[in-house]
Amino acid sequence: MSSTPHSPRILVTGGAGFIGSHTVLALAEAGYAPVIVDDLRNSRSEVLDGLERIMGHRVEFHGVDCGDRSGMAAVFAQPVHGAIHFAADKAVGESVASPEQYFSNNIGATANLTAMLREAGVQHLVFSSSCTVYGETETLPVAESAPVQPAASPYGYTKQACEHLLRYSHSAADGALGVALLRYFNPIGAHPSAEIGELPIGTPANLVPFLTQSVAGLRPALTVFGDDYPTPDGTCIRDYLHVCDLAEAHVAALQWLEKSAGALEAFNLGTGQGSSVKEVIAAFEAATGMPVPHQFGDRRPGDVTAIYADAAKAAELLGWRTQRSLQTCLADAWRWQQKLSA
Ligand code: NAD
Ligand code: WQD
Repeated sequence: MSSTPHSPRILVTGGAGFIGSHTVLALAEAGYAPVIVDDLRNSRSEVLDGLERIMGHRVEFHGVDCGDRSGMAAVFAQPVHGAIHFAADKAVGESVASPEQYFSNNIGATANLTAMLREAGVQHLVFSSSCTVYGETETLPVAESAPVQPAASPYGYTKQACEHLLRYSHSAADGALGVALLRYFNPIGAHPSAEIGELPIGTPANLVPFLTQSVAGLRPALTVFGDDYPTPDGTCIRDYLHVCDLAEAHVAALQWLEKSAGALEAFNLGTGQGSSVKEVIAAFEAATGMPVPHQFGDRRPGDVTAIYADAAKAAELLGWRTQRSLQTCLADAWRWQQKLSA
């Protein structure tokens, strides 16, 4: 199925970004009409061209700040069926240097959007949260019932604050606004067409974009942050999932909200498998045949030793689980990097 002029309009704030752009495709494939709301502060309009090449038509786009009430009025001029709220600043280090920006954009814009959704009588909201809410966990894999730990950064705090805000909004609306809080683990990869992918601006802080840029010769060797952790090979463990799997989870969450009037739930979105940094390097080399130049360095302050998801709740309630392997993620990330550096 694909979208038609009568398909339900779904606002996708941050829809020109990494996860949002892949979700736009998944929504269209499921018969919805995605509407991108993105002021392009961390993305480029070329993403819209890439989406058009895959979808065969131009997606509805509003280049506005979703925290700007007057700018958002045009977005609500036609009926809105639901919203997926990706728009946020996401760099942990930058949030330490500029906490005011993070509180203002991540929390302020969420408050504005949620108020406008309630005023318009919209019943479905999917929110981008993060496994960062769990901090250093005692039990692995981590389930949604695990306690939320004091935030390790202003960025992490804003995700916790937005979860609280949405719980309050949900009860203020007597449940009329159904909410899915999606706690992503580590999304990587790109659409297999290499028409869309991650566009890190400046030096990437995340492992996979740094790794692919190193292999492409755009960066010096990858520094593995610490090989003295109490893990089997000494390097940190994370739960890396393909961005296309993650995109499909948003459609599943929307469909779950449609049949679960008044619901609010948090869901972990991950593979359920932990991979160490050394395992990611080995998987990249096996998937692409390209050696990864790397060296071992000091631990990065703030890194947790190991975290991976108990994703059983998403499987049970959303009927969603990841389909793509770590090697597929890394092969797709490399295809995207080659396109970027061509
Ligand atoms: P991204 O930066 O690629 O995409 C975010 C998009 O939002 C960008 O296109 C940016 O221009 C836009 N944006 C930001 N503030 C805006 C505003 N006020 N109004 C309109 N547009 C605005 O980031 P991403 O990796 O796609 O992340 C999407 C969401 O998922 C974020 O909320 C992020 O915190 C969350 N998340 C990301 C990860 C990850 O590893 N990428 C992990 C967990 C959670
Ligand atoms: C993964 C692993 C590093 C870079 C961050 C945010 C988190 C979430 C996802 C949004 C770690 C190691 C990395 C490098 C390395 N975002 N690494 N060399 O830290 O799990 O999570 O992004 O919510 O909030 O904190 O992801 O990709 O930065 O690191 O060795 O150059 O790779 O130490 O073990 P992380 P990451």
